[in-house]
Amino acid sequence: MKKQNFIWALLMGGITFTSCERDPNNPGTEFAPQMYVSKAYEPYTQVEKNKINPMGLNMREPAKGTVARRFSNNATGHSDYAGDLMYYNIPKDSMEMAEKLLTPPFDPTDAIVEDGKVLYTRYCSPCHGEKGDGKGKVADMYKGVANISASGALKNANSGHIFHTITHGKGRMWSHASQLNPDERWKVVYYVHTLQGQELKNKAIEFKAEKGKTFTLKNVLFKSGSNDLEESSRKELDALIKFLKENPDVKGEISGHTDNEGDAKKNLELSDKRANMVDTYLQKAGIAQERVLAKGYGDAMPKVANDTKENKAQNRRIEFKIL
Ligand code: HEC
Repeated sequence: MKKQNFIWALLMGGITFTSCERDPNNPGTEFAPQMYVSKAYEPYTQVEKNKINPMGLNMREPAKGTVARRFSNNATGHSDYAGDLMYYNIPKDSMEMAEKLLTPPFDPTDAIVEDGKVLYTRYCSPCHGEKGDGKGKVADMYKGVANISASGALKNANSGHIFHTITHGKGRMWSHASQLNPDERWKVVYYVHTLQGQELKNKAIEFKAEKGKTFTLKNVLFKSGSNDLEESSRKELDALIKFLKENPDVKGEISGHTDNEGDAKKNLELSDKRANMVDTYLQKAGIAQERVLAKGYGDAMPKVANDTKENKAQNRRIEFKIL
């Protein structure tokens, strides 16, 4: 090759290559426009430094204090369930699974049920009506709203069932997952249970320092025929201890009661032992002995007639009375 031609080729080559230099703001002629450099302002498309945002990124961090919706489990201070991701990822068509697996992650209290009522009134009652009977104003126009009150076929629907319905909707009812975070849905579930006429299990007792008021400690239970406390009794007893510590002037009586099965004298003895066992538990937790009396009444003060198994179970109980 002649020397002249060689220089010529070098020059041409140079021009060809430099014209191919990448300039994101001037894509020039491209075979597939916008395939390489997106025109849109996308969070992850970082062509040049963003002049306003920190670190020059288009994507900004969420503002301080914002809570990711799917993990917002702070409403009740509850933190030991797996957010929303695995636990709540039950497919829409798997109602049976939801009924079995989904249980409320926190126990009901009056305040929680009251919150549930507010949310229900806002989001559900326009269709389902204040009482849950399906007679809300919208239901006049939007036919087929289910009766979810005690008089309807859904009175036995459990917590998982209702939670699942709120999350995914059902038939003509749309999902409410974007309006209510998981904790709020559970609150609505508790309120719906009261409309269904279901008793709220594990409802914490709210003790009040009112003279003469009696509280039944429903979950303080003993091993059959003995005064050994069941482990599950702790929660309610600890709530009572907390109340007594917060209200140092309150004095009260722990009373033990049985049903009318078996020998009345033995029942009296057993109820007395049980009341004293509860008293011992309180004393061990630092409640002064003179603040709490303990007494057994046997079957002398039934709450309801001893006529069915369920009623008898109601009569076997520990009560706390404010003196
Ligand atoms: C726009 C009206 C509307 C709103 C708002 C609405 N629902 Fe419904 N809901 C319906 C209709 C309609 C049905 C009957 C669905 C079907 O079977 O087609 C229904 C059914 C139900 C059922 C029964 C599901 C089943 O298993 O059959 C439950 C429980 C329920 N709704 C709860 C709620 C709760 C809780 C809210 C508030 C978060 C709510 N709904 C809000 C219209 C509504």
